[in-house]
Amino acid sequence: MTSQTPLRPGLIKRMLPRSLLGRSLLIILLPLVLLQAVALQIFYGSHLDVVSRRLAAAVAGEIATTVDLMRRQPWSADRGWILQGALDRYEIAMRFDPGATLAVRTRKDIIGPMDDDLGMALSDKLHLPFAMDWKADTHSVLLQIQLPDGVLIADVPRKRLYTGMIYLFVVWLAGTALVFFGIAALFMRNQVRAIRRLAQAAEAFGMGRDHGPIKPEGASEVRQAATAFNRMQERIRRFLAQRTEMLAGVSHDLRTPLTRLRLALAMLPYVSQGAEMRGEVAEMTADVEEMERMIGGYLAFARCEGAEQAQPVNLVAVLEDVAAGARRSGAAVVLETPEELTLPLRADAVRRAITNLVDNARRHARHVALAVTQLPGRSVQVTVDDDGPGIPPDRLESVFRPFESDAAGGTGLGLTIARDIVRAHGGDIVLEDSPLGGLRARIRLPV
Ligand SMILES: Nc1ncnc2c1ncn2[C@@H]1O[C@H](COP(=O)(O)OP(=O)(O)OP(=O)(O)O)[C@@H](O)[C@H]1O
Ligand SMILES: [Mg+2]
Repeated sequence: MTSQTPLRPGLIKRMLPRSLLGRSLLIILLPLVLLQAVALQIFYGSHLDVVSRRLAAAVAGEIATTVDLMRRQPWSADRGWILQGALDRYEIAMRFDPGATLAVRTRKDIIGPMDDDLGMALSDKLHLPFAMDWKADTHSVLLQIQLPDGVLIADVPRKRLYTGMIYLFVVWLAGTALVFFGIAALFMRNQVRAIRRLAQAAEAFGMGRDHGPIKPEGASEVRQAATAFNRMQERIRRFLAQRTEMLAGVSHDLRTPLTRLRLALAMLPYVSQGAEMRGEVAEMTADVEEMERMIGGYLAFARCEGAEQAQPVNLVAVLEDVAAGARRSGAAVVLETPEELTLPLRADAVRRAITNLVDNARRHARHVALAVTQLPGRSVQVTVDDDGPGIPPDRLESVFRPFESDAAGGTGLGLTIARDIVRAHGGDIVLEDSPLGGLRARIRLPV
């Protein structure tokens, strides 16, 4: 049994071009070149072969005739006449070296079958020892034939033995392949450009960078995809706007009756209240205040979601802002950032997201550390660390749900909003253990 090397599919895959442009060019060119190569082989094999054999036979016949004449005419005067005739009629320059023996060794192996064909034809027709040198001169073949009384030296012009057809065909093959490649590349590039533009638009939209509808162009399928993308983009945009408007509207409308309620509670005639009643009023007031806080949260969120557009923003400045705000309200915040890190962001929204995280950290811990780093690849990472109690592993995901809160005075919307904002930028937030001992919130944002 022979052991076979398994064909690794990964290898072929890795060798194929990855881009659509490369692949489509390969699909067009490979059959073309194969076709040409097969055509060339068939033509060359059947046609040029025959031509070469016939030319070689003709030349060998002429030389054999000359040799025969030479052998019959031993007088050098006659021989001169014979050699002159060969030059005039056959275009083969010959001279006779009396008393010599074969002085060259056969050198051949050129591209094509001409050398073998000539060798075969000569041995067929001469029946004399001979040698031929194909390497001495590029325009002719040097022949030496051993006669009984000396050596006949002939310079056979190569053009008598073959035409430049073979080279012409190789040039033709390479040339047409190149021309086709150029034309195909030109047309394919336009098609691929349309697809690439669509991919870029989809990616930008996913990162919250809204560049508006894209112009449908290219092949009809690509246009169709672009139109569908535009429609989808529009629908999502409308949906988001609707959601935000509704949230803002409801929050806003609830605010007025709530304020009225709180005022009414405060205005309740104090004297008429018993001690028990007073406790209940205080509880009701606290409830109303919590509702107001929640509504404030919704409104702030809705404002963030609003019309703000992504623009190049220095993320470091945003973090410095948040840290300064937290320090003003008495927190110990350490900030570790590069000089500057600019990327397209909706600045107010991102400020809100990070503020929410820092607020959480402040609420549960004494020390807060904020850091931003550029990750390899196209993203940046912001971390918010604290030295508080942290969150048990089984709650790390559930705290992102709205109204998941166990903090006094918390509404449970902080993390929900923060994640919403970061995801709308095409990034994400995860919670994990912090090297400081408490919780680490890690934000990844695409650049
Ligand atoms: N740094 C932290 N350390 C410990 N627990 C945390 C931390 N951050 C959040 N949590 C937990 O996750 C819960 C949800 O946090 P989230 O920010 O969503 O709401 P909240 O802080 O309670 O209220 P809000 O932020 O809306 O005022 C918190 O109630 C708290 O239990
Ligand atoms: Mg919070």
